[in-house]
Amino acid sequence: MRSLVAPSFGDPSVYDVVDFPTPIITSPTQVLIKVAAASINGHDIVMASGKTKMVQSLPLPYPIGLDFAGTILELGAEVTAFAKGDEVYGFTAKGGAASTHLLLDTRHRDAAFAKIPKGLTMVEAASLPAVAITAATALKRADEYFKSLSSSSETSGLQGKTVFIPGALSGVGSIALQIAKHQYNCRTLTAVSTSKLPLIEKSLGEGVVDQAIDYTVQTDIVTAIGKGTVDFVLDTTGLAADYLPLLRRSGLCLSIARLPPGSALKNEDPDAPAQSRVACIGQNVMDGLDAAFRAWAKTRWGVVYVYQKTEPRSEDVEEVSGLVGKGWVRPVVGRTVGLEDEEGVREGCMQMFKGKGGVGKFVITAE
Ligand SMILES: NC(=O)c1ccc[n+]([C@@H]2O[C@H](COP(=O)([O-])OP(=O)(O)OC[C@H]3O[C@@H](n4cnc5c(N)ncnc54)[C@H](OP(=O)(O)O)[C@@H]3O)[C@@H](O)[C@H]2O)c1
Repeated sequence: MRSLVAPSFGDPSVYDVVDFPTPIITSPTQVLIKVAAASINGHDIVMASGKTKMVQSLPLPYPIGLDFAGTILELGAEVTAFAKGDEVYGFTAKGGAASTHLLLDTRHRDAAFAKIPKGLTMVEAASLPAVAITAATALKRADEYFKSLSSSSETSGLQGKTVFIPGALSGVGSIALQIAKHQYNCRTLTAVSTSKLPLIEKSLGEGVVDQAIDYTVQTDIVTAIGKGTVDFVLDTTGLAADYLPLLRRSGLCLSIARLPPGSALKNEDPDAPAQSRVACIGQNVMDGLDAAFRAWAKTRWGVVYVYQKTEPRSEDVEEVSGLVGKGWVRPVVGRTVGLEDEEGVREGCMQMFKGKGGVGKFVITAE
């Protein structure tokens, strides 16, 4: 099989497409998938850069790709929910989805997949799992948070609240804004760069975004939106510290892009290699920094801050299928490149590495 890997830690210029023996089923709980498409996430790029290698153990060559869509080629006797030939999409925390073949073990927590919802192409399906699960989970947590507040005016949870979700055409932002509008009827605010403003309605649908700010022109986001006017911020850029003044007292900021707590880097897989002493110390320091930021958000702004790490769970992939089925989520696919176009693959990944300019998801096809 052919796989996209980082042979050594570095930016996407080091990535290579290499040959590995095609995996075979060796356990009754495994599934072998012929991958048709895989999408790239910020997680792939950060892990392959080696930025976190001091605080978590990472394999080399580093396998790229969390999200996939493809067809089941073979499956073990204990996998009864699927059959050969089923078209599935999902998320593997172990990486390696940007390959022609993918072996998953349904016994492990790193494998989450479901049948592809009707009407989605393989490319569209591969674009969704990680970002849609992240977006749906974040909004559900916000809904639960507002429901948990004792005031009777909060019993409606996130329904009708004002939310700020920067990056309307980013992977997570594009899906989160759609869910915030269609499922929770929120007032939706976002920030994008100039060239993306005219693309919002076409990509997300009419009326999904109520107010879009060009953050390259209105650089002070708090002045542009108004201090204390927002209930929920989904921080997709890592700028949570700048966004906190936007929130009303008791508002919630959930970040997916700031420095995570160290505990979010722990690999819970029972087969994972033991962590080094240095990694454990580094994780404790990161836990401390996260706790200090949470305390500062509370005392300085009277708001709640929380970091979210997305974990693969098959029920969450099913939930994404439900959102697609209701017409509440439509995929936003930007660039698509074949696995064999190594230069194109590196270019697409490099755009993500730079964190600017991308529209929707970057998808690699492997047919
Ligand atoms: N914790 C988790 O479990 C989890 C899960 C998924 C993603 N993430 C992380 O969340 C972040 C977002 O992921 P993604 O997949 O949505 O990223 P993405 O698709 O690569 O989008 C990033 C976009 O953010 C925009 N951007 C940069 N600075 C901005 C600013 N100041 N204001 C508004 N937009 C800005 C850029 O658009 P312009 O070209 O317009 O600047 C860029 O295209 C990444 O850091 C990723 O690693 C974490």
